[in-house]
Parts: sequence; structure tokens; C-alpha cells
Amino acid sequence: MSQIQAPEMSELLEGWSERAENLIPILQEIQERYRYLPETALREVAERLHVSLPEVFHVATFYNCFSLEPVGEYLIQVCMGTACHVRGAPRVLDRILRDLKLPHPGTTQDMQFTVRTVRCIGCCGLAPVVRVNSHTHPHLTQARVPGLLKKYRPRERRPGVTAETTASEGRTHAEAQRG
Ligand code: FES
Repeated sequence: MSQIQAPEMSELLEGWSERAENLIPILQEIQERYRYLPETALREVAERLHVSLPEVFHVATFYNCFSLEPVGEYLIQVCMGTACHVRGAPRVLDRILRDLKLPHPGTTQDMQFTVRTVRCIGCCGLAPVVRVNSHTHPHLTQARVPGLLKKYRPRERRPGVTAETTASEGRTHAEAQRG
């Protein structure tokens, strides 16, 4: 992941007034664009909004949606809250890590997937729950993990399937699961 460049930051900050209330939406925009919050960007935001750097870091580390490290194209959040935990989340996590060949939560070498554990994401009735980017996958089991990951695999591992198809299949799957 390339470092954020000063002109890009200026362009990004252009549309925002220098008010501290804009801190979170600006961080969201940076996160969305670069998939993480580079330190140089945080310094620039702090200066622009006249907010202390520790305060900016506090916000950047408080919310699960922000990352100080580059994350993969697909962020897999495995809920380990109580409801999910008692319904098998540890086994689901174990299967995800095994299938992605990760020794522990983190990012795959190809930057395709980042796996994280999170606390309750607010839909305990659907436990155990895994979120991939903004799509929620309910009632996940170990057996369903390979199928879930397949939806998001890069196209070169799935002959004849385009990246767009892959992403759209992921959405369809998530929607189907929600329904
Ligand atoms: S404990 Fe997993 S959604 Fe609440």
C-alpha cells in the first residue's frame, strides 16, 4: 500500500471546514480511500482541525472501523461477543484462519483478506455472525466457511469469473443470508 501523498491529502481535506466535529467523517473518508489511516494523514488532519495528535489517535484507535495498518481488500470481522462465542464463533474463526493459512488474525500476503475479531456487532439474534466489509453473514458454521471465502477469492483463482462478478456474488450471498 503506497504512502498517502501531500497533494492527495490537500485535495481530500479541501471539502471540509476546519472544525473538530469533522474529525470522524474525515477519518472515514481516508479509511475508505486508502483502507487504513496512515500516520502522515493523521498528523495533517490534526493540524488542519486544530485537534491534538493524541486525540486524533484516540479516535482512530477507538472505533473498529478504523485501522492504523493497511488492510486487505476484504475485511473479515468475526464477532466474538458472548452470543456468538457460545454459538460456535471460535470454531468459525479457526476454520477461516486455517483456510486463509493465517496463524492468527491478520492480513494475507496477497492483501486480499484481513481477519479481525470484534466484540458484539449488534445482531446477536443472528449469531454466530461474520461481517465481510459491510455485508453481514449470519448463522455461520465451520462447514459454510469455504463457500463464504470462495465468494471473495480473487478471480485468477476462479477461471472465467471476473472481480465484478466475485463482488456481486458476495453481495447476493449476503443479501440471501439476510433474507
Ligand atoms: S455477540 Fe455477536 S452480534 Fe452480538
